[in-house]
Amino acid sequence: MEQAISFERIPTRIFDDSEQASKAVAHEIAALIREKNKEGKPTILGLATGSSPKKVYQELIRMHKEEGLSFKNVITFNLDEYHPMEPDSIQSYVRFMREQLFDHIDIPVTNYHIPDGTLTIEKIPEFCRDYEAKIEKLGGFDFYLLGIGRNGHIGFNEPGSVINSKTRLMTLDITTKIDAAIDFGGLEKVPKRAITLGIDKIMQAKRIVLLAWGEHKAQSVAKAVEGPITSDIPATYLQQHPNTLFILDETAASLLTRIKTPWLVDSVTWDRNMIKKAVTHLSLHLGKPVLKLTSKDYNEHGMSDLLSLYGQAYDINIEVFNYLQHSITGWPGGKPNADDTHRPERAFPAKKKVIIFSPHPDDDIISMGGTFQRLHDQGHDVHVVYQTSGNIAVADDEALRFAEFVVDFNEKFESSNAKANKIYKEAVKFLKNKKDSELDIPAVREIKGLIRQGEAKNTCRFVGIKKENAHFLHMPFYETGTIRKKPIGEADIQLIMDIIEEVQPHQIYAAGDLADPHGTHKVCLDAIFEAIQRLKHREYMKNCWVWLYKGAWAEWDIDQIEMAVPMSPDQVFKKRMGIFKHQSQKDGVVFQGEDSREFWQRAEERNRGTAQIYNALGLAEYEAMEAFVRWKF
Ligand code: F6R
Repeated sequence: MEQAISFERIPTRIFDDSEQASKAVAHEIAALIREKNKEGKPTILGLATGSSPKKVYQELIRMHKEEGLSFKNVITFNLDEYHPMEPDSIQSYVRFMREQLFDHIDIPVTNYHIPDGTLTIEKIPEFCRDYEAKIEKLGGFDFYLLGIGRNGHIGFNEPGSVINSKTRLMTLDITTKIDAAIDFGGLEKVPKRAITLGIDKIMQAKRIVLLAWGEHKAQSVAKAVEGPITSDIPATYLQQHPNTLFILDETAASLLTRIKTPWLVDSVTWDRNMIKKAVTHLSLHLGKPVLKLTSKDYNEHGMSDLLSLYGQAYDINIEVFNYLQHSITGWPGGKPNADDTHRPERAFPAKKKVIIFSPHPDDDIISMGGTFQRLHDQGHDVHVVYQTSGNIAVADDEALRFAEFVVDFNEKFESSNAKANKIYKEAVKFLKNKKDSELDIPAVREIKGLIRQGEAKNTCRFVGIKKENAHFLHMPFYETGTIRKKPIGEADIQLIMDIIEEVQPHQIYAAGDLADPHGTHKVCLDAIFEAIQRLKHREYMKNCWVWLYKGAWAEWDIDQIEMAVPMSPDQVFKKRMGIFKHQSQKDGVVFQGEDSREFWQRAEERNRGTAQIYNALGLAEYEAMEAFVRWKF
């Protein structure tokens, strides 16, 4: 038996999902607290904010309430706080910690410490020295809970931080600011600086557990775990810590060598998926079409056992080539009266009922506009279900333009319904005086929602579907007026179940975007999965296939794609026109992120990219392609 080769320089555990993983971490913390209590000693914990530790805190609260876990003897120090920052602001880490943990457990107020964002700049150095002195006096951390930034930061120790850095005021890196923009309602509103615990004190902790969830963390995790130690990725310093564990979900682990190219690490089971993954990887890595790969290529790239299984490269090549070929279809709803043995979709029934779930009002056209159009043109009964209003992504001046239009219109034609006019006038007044930290009043949210609804209707008209086939669910989890949403609730799931029951579809398309585990797309997908689980015993569901598309940001890996729908240059252009119907999302959006391209550009580049990869693997050259993965329930 060959020895497994490890590329990992930090112990790492991969869980199926962040829920299970968080519970395991919370249980470790609880065990530590109980042990320390028995010894009559306090437990000194280091804590982080952000999305990563939230479920750990939830489990600790549950254990406090249901199992009597006491925090009376726990002393905590948080990593960081923005500067300047008032403790009761919605973005404050003091507020975060109170809401997520401290207000729900029995920790004495004097036992938790969070850097003070209200200090004047002059007072910060002294505060930092004092913060470290307190930690030292208590003997350092028993346990430190960390997250990791997309740029590899720990705490707000941004790229460039040295291993012995002290607690200090730090200028935030652009990636950190982009990620925080979501909480602050725009990049320009994010504070430039934050007070952060230095790496030195973190490294002195007896135990460190770092959490990472979601595809967007995969890159920094892989670099931290497998890359050389460098100040460019401060988390790489943890390689030198004797007792650190990385806890990951599957998506955050996806770029580790043992997941990405497992045949390089250990012997693998060569099933269809593994063969597809390995051969497409080899072909793209060598820049050679699949049909040109040789036995030497397989032997030299850790795939000699696959080669000996097949005997010759040609047999593997042809098999993978056929898999890829069979995933391509211009008939996403199935080709009527054709042999469908090797087609991604069934030929029967020739006319299918289709639901496209669109988390926001433009995901349908951005992510699968070409397929949407084909489904309609090929005679299927296509329904689009817009899951949320998307209102927070409408800029204030856009809403003001519409509100003023209604007010002016009513005045001009004296056609006012007094109540409606009053509401619109209020909205105009509010928008003209709106402060950065203010949440939209309900009337403004309504106007913003209507703007996006109008745009979605416009796209549906453009594609050609009937007016009554566009459904707007306004899922309640989304309607908080801020970027942070409520957890998914029964009402959300019920809405999805109702529409599925009504349409009884043969095909469901849904956004399978897992990049941000707390983002709208993921919640929308969870609601669909749950609704389908509950409905799967229904007779019509036995004939329902679910296809997942990816959102605006990413594409499926080539080996995962089970249906690729090609587009001609004309179809690409038509899709662009469909995306243009979403005027409020053009010319820079409220939450632009780091990618300054507009949505139509991202969509085109990605669809062209998929076509180019197929071509590089040796398949026909198309202008662009949309890609789907089937979810079997
Ligand atoms: C939080 C902190 C940061 C976060 C990191 C990940 O106190 O210091 O280092 O841990 O940015 O953030 P999330 O968990 O929101 O992805």
